[in-house]
Amino acid sequence: MQTLTAQSRNEIETTRRYSARYAFHDLVVRPLLSGSSKTLRRSIFDILERLDGPIRSIIDISAGDDPLIAELGELFDAEIYLANDICIESLYKLRHYIPLSGRFIGTNFDALNLPENLPCFDLAIAKNVIHHMTSGREMEQLLSNLDRVSKNILVVDIEDPACGSWQGRAWKFYYSCFLHDQGHRFVRQQEFRDIINQYFLSSTIYFKTTHTSKGTFMLALISRTIETKGSHILQTTPFHRFSVARF
Ligand SMILES: C[S@@+](CC[C@H](N)C(=O)[O-])C[C@H]1O[C@@H](n2cnc3c(N)ncnc32)[C@H](O)[C@@H]1O
Repeated sequence: MQTLTAQSRNEIETTRRYSARYAFHDLVVRPLLSGSSKTLRRSIFDILERLDGPIRSIIDISAGDDPLIAELGELFDAEIYLANDICIESLYKLRHYIPLSGRFIGTNFDALNLPENLPCFDLAIAKNVIHHMTSGREMEQLLSNLDRVSKNILVVDIEDPACGSWQGRAWKFYYSCFLHDQGHRFVRQQEFRDIINQYFLSSTIYFKTTHTSKGTFMLALISRTIETKGSHILQTTPFHRFSVARF
């Protein structure tokens, strides 16, 4: 049984309490955002071209209902791709977008406290989650968990809408006040770069910025050549022991 922080409990409760609003969002608003999502996807695929070596295993530590993990799994022909989120309802939604495959696993852990026995992945994704960290300590815990569970890491987040366009501010208002999204700690580009540079001192880091109608997205790819445990470990690890949702 994992111990959840107050923020993590909020994440779970909000999605449950406002489930009707999230259903409206999925049906009506999400299609309006498809242009912005496509632009960001292209940017993500571009930056990932810099990766060296095979990507056989991928983890998205806060996948929500975003099928990016499956798209990357297919792109890299990964042997295993794992979608994690603290909110199980989001993972159930994600299941509808992803074809059943023995290579796809869903887990329901707090990304600040991932299990010690999680094997090392070739690539970890942390998309739109750093603005959900409520303190410097949580940010550090998140980065330390990412550091531990993966060789390469892709961090993506939206730049603080307060310093962006009126559309960006309007979207922020919609997400915070209508959907009650629990992510409030947005950072500006310089702070984003400082956080990543300071934490991953001895790694090669690529930064990229992408402008969309929803706002400016900041991407950082942390690329390392260190030897990992390799995918053979993944194949032999009994995932079901700590996976509450194996799809
Ligand atoms: C803004 S959504 C982003 C979802 C998806 N990555 C995307 O880009 O569409 C943030 C997600 O982070 C998840 N999350 C927040 N804190 C978390 C934590 N401590 N551990 C795991 N997931 C977390 C939330 O449940 C939510 O699904």
